[in-house]
Amino acid sequence: MKNRSITLVTIVAGSLALTGAAISPPIRNACAQQAHMSYAEDVAPIFRGWCVSCHQPGGQGYNASGLDLTTYDNLMKGTKFGPMVIAGQPDDSNLIVLVEGRAKIQMPYGHKPLPECLRQNIWSWIFEGAKNN
Ligand code: HEC
Repeated sequence: MKNRSITLVTIVAGSLALTGAAISPPIRNACAQQAHMSYAEDVAPIFRGWCVSCHQPGGQGYNASGLDLTTYDNLMKGTKFGPMVIAGQPDDSNLIVLVEGRAKIQMPYGHKPLPECLRQNIWSWIFEGAKNN
């Protein structure tokens, strides 16, 4: 019996190692401090620190795209091109595409990318439904 369970563990670990290379990126909220992301506590502070200087009325990003990142409601309004956040679908959300540098332009515009953990926090918050929590 003992031997059988050891074999099972080995097989499971082996298949994880095989699939591991194909999963990209891995567990996205790995370095999150908590299980669930909060808009007010985890996401809004990132926008205030890295985005709002341009994404508020009169700012460069707001003038160019219409995106106002000062409040939840304005974030969810998106731009004239449509929503930037699709609840539950972070990889299809333009905001994530831009902060991950997967488009021609990257956010924050003209600056180095957000630290990985912060990108993961936004990703996880969208994945969890992009709630006003
Ligand atoms: C230095 C100014 C600046 C900063 C800081 C900045 N942005 Fe932008 N943002 C812009 C400009 C300019 C555009 C329009 C770019 C374009 O369409 O060529 C834009 C456009 C966008 C768009 C909309 C793209 C579209 O399709 O119209 C999103 C989403 C966005 N920014 C998100 C962010 C996020 C999230 C942050 C913070 C992590 C951020 N931005 C920080 C200047 C900035």
